[in-house]
Amino acid sequence: MNFLLPLLILLVKLNCLKGKETSQPHIIFIFADDLGWNDISLHGSPQIPTPNIDALALNGLILHNYYTWRLCTPSRGTFLTGKYPNRLGLQHSPIKVGESSGLPLYEVTLPQHLKKLGYRTHMIGKWHLGYQTKEYTPTYRGFDTFFGFLNGFIDYYDHTVWEPTFLANIPHYYGLDFHNGTTILKDKQGQYATHLFTEEAENIILSHDTSKPLFLYLSHLASHTGNDFKPVQAPPEQDHSFSVYQRRPLFLQKNFLTSWLLTANIIDMMFAVSSQDV
Ligand SMILES: *[C@@H]1O[C@H](CO)[C@@H](O)[C@H](O)[C@H]1NC(C)=O
Repeated sequence: MNFLLPLLILLVKLNCLKGKETSQPHIIFIFADDLGWNDISLHGSPQIPTPNIDALALNGLILHNYYTWRLCTPSRGTFLTGKYPNRLGLQHSPIKVGESSGLPLYEVTLPQHLKKLGYRTHMIGKWHLGYQTKEYTPTYRGFDTFFGFLNGFIDYYDHTVWEPTFLANIPHYYGLDFHNGTTILKDKQGQYATHLFTEEAENIILSHDTSKPLFLYLSHLASHTGNDFKPVQAPPEQDHSFSVYQRRPLFLQKNFLTSWLLTANIIDMMFAVSSQDV
């Protein structure tokens, strides 16, 4: 779980100039967590068909010369600041549950820069850059809105996080980690995280005032594991008919499905993008 290989997909599409729509590009950044380099069919995976990610890539630019740290916290810190993790003090392992660490408050983030250029900035999904005080959380770091979780992972359904500690008196931390801004969200429990994040992305895109440029950082939980005791969770209604799926051991089957669902959700979101003409 600590060895993460995030896949970054940058999607920038220029608006057609019409009416009073902004001429600045809208930016939607989708962060897939733990999706391996070879886990997409674009890179030759015969096991996990990812047609929607492949289509996005083939219709855009593929940046094969860019590299990222293979861990959650350092790579996210780098993405939001453009600095190497060791310049941020984030070169260590990902932040543990309850740890008082985070992206230093004096760092200026990408959404803070974009806001100066008139952007509306939104974040959905996984933060993992600290929450020891509210000033460390996304809506204090340049995002107008935040819908998601602050730790490295949550249960896909009940949105709790569980992690052992090294403390004798508190053997583990456990609690609900699902937020709207700085407010805990309880009424979404039971709903599958990947779908919730996609729906929220669609809401943001469809209700966006296109006279302003949009920056959406969509940081999916998938295909990362959930809690240790329930690591891989695909929804039961998911289609299990892929032949490759049936040949795989249970753990890989479910991992496959969380990845596959991620790509399915990306295409749902793209429909929202195209209907809003951004
Ligand atoms: C988050 O909070 C804002 C402001 O109170 C509200 O307008 C919005 O509907 C909330 N979103 C969710 C998903 O609860």
